[in-house]
Amino acid sequence: MTTLRAVDLSLAYGAEHVLRDVSVEIPEGRVTVIVGANASGKTTLLRGLGRMLRPTSGVVLLDGKDIHSRSSKYVATVMGLLPQDAPEQTGLTVAELVHRGRTPRRQGLFGRSGPGDEEAVRRALELTGLGPVAERPVDDLSGGQRRRAWIAMALAGETDVLLLDEPTAFLDVAGELEVLDLLTDLNRRSGTTMVLVLHDLNLAARYADHLVALKEGQVVRQGVPAEVLTEEFLSDVFGLRARIVLDPVARTPLIVPIGRHHSYTAIACRHPLGQEPESKPAPVRLVDGPPEFAGPG
Ligand SMILES: Nc1ncnc2c1ncn2[C@@H]1O[C@H](COP(=O)(O)OP(=O)(O)O)[C@@H](O)[C@H]1O
Ligand SMILES: [Mg+2]
Repeated sequence: MTTLRAVDLSLAYGAEHVLRDVSVEIPEGRVTVIVGANASGKTTLLRGLGRMLRPTSGVVLLDGKDIHSRSSKYVATVMGLLPQDAPEQTGLTVAELVHRGRTPRRQGLFGRSGPGDEEAVRRALELTGLGPVAERPVDDLSGGQRRRAWIAMALAGETDVLLLDEPTAFLDVAGELEVLDLLTDLNRRSGTTMVLVLHDLNLAARYADHLVALKEGQVVRQGVPAEVLTEEFLSDVFGLRARIVLDPVARTPLIVPIGRHHSYTAIACRHPLGQEPESKPAPVRLVDGPPEFAGPG
């Protein structure tokens, strides 16, 4: 197996520092999810972990050694990376793209593919449900299918670690669940260490074993979702007023945003879980909402 951690890591683009003194330990064989508001540095952290950026200070340790002292080929055989913005045009078929995921494993510059490569590509296509479109040009697929093709490419590498930046971008709700279930299958079956950036906090709460929360380029909290995701945390890190209830399906934290216009929901959520309000709430005087509220209808 492969261990990955960042120690006092600082990353910058030119003179602009984006991440400062970030330390994270990625639990081996588990699913880690990075969350944070837009521009908080999630993609930058993932790039740092994936050796795509050189730290201005601090270090990323891959199996205990500075990742920049390792060869690109070694890093690519143990760690796969799905970038947030995959190229729009590839000029490749789905199968050809997925084959690219095997490149680091081949011998020499013109290393030919062997039976192991064919089998890995077949499996990645099957897992992502792309078998039927394997011979189609990637550029002709829908956004969701294209995203899955890139995920299949990352899976085909059969690496110990996968870093995936918003793998569910461009997918509809069912597609998001499908991809996250698939990554969980892979994690459980092969023990692949996953590091995902996810936008949706409720999906993060469900699928993460370990949550890392960034705010303005710093790690503000990390741990199991049930401990990290509190109402104060959401207010502090996302500027979001929300209630947290128990997800009736997964029994993980479920975030219910309040907003300014739907106070009925806010009132109902104060009732014990799974128990409907006995009758429509009587007019309530809210401490921090409008002065009078009589419920909808
Ligand atoms: N290639 C780049 N060059 C300069 N600044 C960048 C670059 N990529 C990201 N940034 C800046 O770094 C900050 C963090 O970006 P990013 O890591 O992409 O955030 P997130 O993924 O959390 O939305 C943002 O202010 C962004 O504008
Ligand atoms: Mg990003």
